[in-house]
Amino acid sequence: MSSNSPSQHKRNRGVILTPVGWRKLEQAEKKSGQHFTKEQIRDRTGLSIQTISRIRKRKVAVDKDSLECYIKAFGLELTDKDYTHVRQENQRQDWGDAPNVSVFYDRCEEMAQLQQWVLEENCRLVALLGMGGIGKTALATKFAQNFKTEFDIVVWRSLQNAPTLEELLESVLQSIMQMLQEEPVVPTSLNGKLSKLMEYFRDKHCLLILDNAETILSAGGGAGHCLAKYEGYGQLFKRIGEVSHQSCLLVTSREKPKDIVALEGEEKKMRSLQLGGLKPEDGRKLFQDRGQFTGTDAEWIRLIEHYGGNPFALKMVAAGIQQLFDGSIAELLEYIGQGVLVFNDIRDLLERQFSRLSPVEQEVMLWLAINREPLSEQGVFNRSAIALGGHSVPSR
Ligand SMILES: Nc1ncnc2c1ncn2[C@@H]1O[C@H](COP(=O)(O)OP(=O)(O)O)[C@@H](O)[C@H]1O
Ligand SMILES: [Mg+2]
Repeated sequence: MSSNSPSQHKRNRGVILTPVGWRKLEQAEKKSGQHFTKEQIRDRTGLSIQTISRIRKRKVAVDKDSLECYIKAFGLELTDKDYTHVRQENQRQDWGDAPNVSVFYDRCEEMAQLQQWVLEENCRLVALLGMGGIGKTALATKFAQNFKTEFDIVVWRSLQNAPTLEELLESVLQSIMQMLQEEPVVPTSLNGKLSKLMEYFRDKHCLLILDNAETILSAGGGAGHCLAKYEGYGQLFKRIGEVSHQSCLLVTSREKPKDIVALEGEEKKMRSLQLGGLKPEDGRKLFQDRGQFTGTDAEWIRLIEHYGGNPFALKMVAAGIQQLFDGSIAELLEYIGQGVLVFNDIRDLLERQFSRLSPVEQEVMLWLAINREPLSEQGVFNRSAIALGGHSVPSR
């Protein structure tokens, strides 16, 4: 897979007038004896006011054709001395409260998959799904950081505090307008805001990341459906998925939004990736800076598989093994074998996941848990989740 196709390079490269080119232009303008307004130049060249401003400010690159068109309008030819190529490393990114992901292991396959969908197939909506702590936020952030230069605009927003769609769009649009040095006039109606976002999605190559979409989906009842207050989000997903544009919305969620399910089959530009745990060798790396641990290779594998490779759980467990077992994995495994060990934070994580299911689903899950072998068998994380959520294992 090529990460840098020519078209992608082109998107991020542009030209700026050199002082030589700028002087040439100024002289041509002077010679004409007239001071041209941006509007007059727009009428002459057909370029947008924004592009004209950029050409004149000489801070942000434009594409060469636009510059050529501008110069020609003054009866000049664009020569090599008049412009310089620049890679657009401009600050067109708004990371909101994205986490620091400087420590990040593996996920090569998932990263390649996202790259394929988002950059090669130009998927419009990609959902990153998986239980709490599995690493959705980390992967989405890492992906955006790795490939930020492939996009004109990157905006990262968390839905954790449950903003209404209006609030979210207001903040996203303000940010984009600021990046593009446009007047920050956000349309007042919801529809206007949606249309404005779609306009940017069409005109620019944007990556919008919405983290924690489960917040706006209803817990229980119709899992995956947007809560009544947040129904607008369904519209947003639908528009982004259905309307033609060149951008991508990357959503992370514990559950798959129903609006995405509805569109996925027929609409090939929507994808979802169910995130599993880290591989044992990578899960093990999470323990590196968390003290000394003793264990055989087989014990390490058992430990990591027991927690389903869930990085959040493994971090908690690492601290627990240090505190309770002096770093001995064998001792922890012994407790796990007896089915009695619970770290409170993991319990909390699991209960939260469990509480999002509808009563019927909870009941089904409990039965499934009960009908499997008892937990003294080597249980997987999910299975423990169910048992713990149902309080069938005493905590210590
Ligand atoms: N591939 C990874 N390498 C290292 N740490 C990771 C990795 N994936 C997740 N983590 C860490 O595990 C924790 C949970 O990950 P997070 O992305 O917040 O999960 P989720 O968003 O699915 O709930 C975070 O502290 C995160 O930094
Ligand atoms: Mg998250």
